Amino acid sequence: MDINKIRQDFPYYSSSTSKKPQIYLDTACQSLRPQVVIDAINQYYVIEPACGGRSNHHLSAAVSHRVDQVRETTAKFFHASRKEEIIFTRNTTEGINLVANSLGLKSGDTIVISDKEHNSNLIPWQMLVKREGVQLKVVPSLPDNTFDLAAFEKILAGGVRLVSIGMTSNLDGVTVPAAEITKLAHKHGALVLFDAAQAAPHRQIDVKALDIDFLALSGHKMLGPSGIGILYGKLALLEKMSPFLVGGDTVASSTYESCEFLPVPEKYEAGLQDYAGIYGMGAALDYMKKVGFDFIQKQETSLNEYITREIADLSGLKILGPADPKIRGGIVNFTIDGIDSHRVALMLDQMAGVMVRSGQHCVHSWFNSRQIKGSVRASTYFYNTQEEAAIFIENLKKIRKVL
Ligand code: ALA
Repeated sequence: MDINKIRQDFPYYSSSTSKKPQIYLDTACQSLRPQVVIDAINQYYVIEPACGGRSNHHLSAAVSHRVDQVRETTAKFFHASRKEEIIFTRNTTEGINLVANSLGLKSGDTIVISDKEHNSNLIPWQMLVKREGVQLKVVPSLPDNTFDLAAFEKILAGGVRLVSIGMTSNLDGVTVPAAEITKLAHKHGALVLFDAAQAAPHRQIDVKALDIDFLALSGHKMLGPSGIGILYGKLALLEKMSPFLVGGDTVASSTYESCEFLPVPEKYEAGLQDYAGIYGMGAALDYMKKVGFDFIQKQETSLNEYITREIADLSGLKILGPADPKIRGGIVNFTIDGIDSHRVALMLDQMAGVMVRSGQHCVHSWFNSRQIKGSVRASTYFYNTQEEAAIFIENLKKIRKVL
């Protein structure tokens, strides 16, 4: 695949009015969008700007039809058995909150997370500890920040209701052994939810082969619009659970005293939906399929190997996570002794238009427990080039010299 041709699909690269180079190395926060996604969003607003599922006119029917098609596309993309197992949410955070608040977790239940979870996969459980009296247990990672299956199994042996783990970490790009985690969890009678916000943009996830119970992800990290997310859940579980966000479009009928919920997935999709977001998500998945995960991973690994090789010897620089770039996906996250991460990020931007993320990356718990104030994270995707990586490296070296 020709990277220059690929970059032509992303209008950001040709539309910037800035004279500075625009080196976007912050895809773990949010990806750029190809024109096809923007076209799909526009198709909703320009051609079919109506409510789906409610009115009896042809525009409404067109919207309902497209929503149904995207649900089907999404189910196929993640190998779900049925399209009803796909619920549209706003983002990963909402998907995790949906499970946390709909599963009927109560005092006596134990939930297990890892020690590297994003706040989205930590705070919803902390709320349940306070409100319902559930227990939250944290699996410590191995010294190189990879998942400790032995420690995990020890915790499972104590009795666990739900395991909720980030499939790929936004901290260091490490992907956990999802199949082994699920197998062990099921062996001990626990359900499994994966936060796939950082995994879904980079690897094929087959929910059926992995036997995952729930999978939450966001559109904005995988070429899709901001404000649209997906929650996959096994049908039998979704049917049993009780929705926490309720109202319009979740019920077949109501009286002043009670209501009759619609079947899955409607009972979980309260209020007017983000139709433009759903159109855009469908286009993003189609585009991603065309690019293919082989190419995505090849490109990320080669950039990560190059960056790691070039910066590893900078004085005081420590890369978070394992030394081997091949198991850190598109992420190079590092600290430099005695230097504030925000200062480095600002200088990279000012000197060369290199955009990275700095700070604690919404994983405050991990940083605070280690008394690390923050880190500088470069995250690449298949649209980034070796030339861009070289500019990042060159400017980081300059910064290291002056600070
Ligand atoms: N989770 C996103 C990131 O790591 C916001 O940048």
